Amino acid sequence: MTHPKLTLVDHPLVQHKLSLMRDARTPGPDFRRLLREISLLLTYEAARDLTLKTQTITTPLTEMEAPMLAGADPVVVSILRAGNGLLDGVLDVIPTAKVGFVGLYRNEETLRPVQYYCKLPPELSGRLVIAVDPMLATGNSSAAAVDLLKEAGATDICLICLLAAPEGVACMAREHPDVRIVTASVDSHLNEKGYIVPGLGDAGDRIFGTV
Ligand code: URA
Repeated sequence: MTHPKLTLVDHPLVQHKLSLMRDARTPGPDFRRLLREISLLLTYEAARDLTLKTQTITTPLTEMEAPMLAGADPVVVSILRAGNGLLDGVLDVIPTAKVGFVGLYRNEETLRPVQYYCKLPPELSGRLVIAVDPMLATGNSSAAAVDLLKEAGATDICLICLLAAPEGVACMAREHPDVRIVTASVDSHLNEKGYIVPGLGDAGDRIFGTV
């Protein structure tokens, strides 16, 4: 099953960096830097529909009507802990974004998400809310995080994930077909432990060196 609002970013720069990240030999500092760089490039797609309004400005040569971002600042919500690996890249491109955090861990037996933290900026309605989580695996955590965002009033949500499994995409299509997904790859499948194959291993462990 696919998702009606999935954007696969197949840009060569993104694909090259992703392959470097997949390589088990890539050291932690490189892994983190590559994730931040890809995050910046995925944000470019996620922010494609932001509203512009023209303002009169004066260049060194003349006056012009220049397009500028309008409306409420976007919000970026990191799904802890691995989402933090994508957060700085989003803020590099949208420095005015407000930041929220949702803490979910995966029960390794049931693979179901358990919430332990939620801190969101006020007034999510009518502004772009970008949720970030590098791995869309079963989709349970992302779907639960999106539930929280919707309960808090979010109406325009985009999930940025580095990698997705078909199972996670199907889960989001079932539970949140209105939520856009921007990803660099939809991989083959999940293994019996819930890891994406071929994937890149445990993203949180590789970001934070907890392997
Ligand atoms: N979370 C990860 O970090 N990696 C996977 O492959 C699946 C979930």
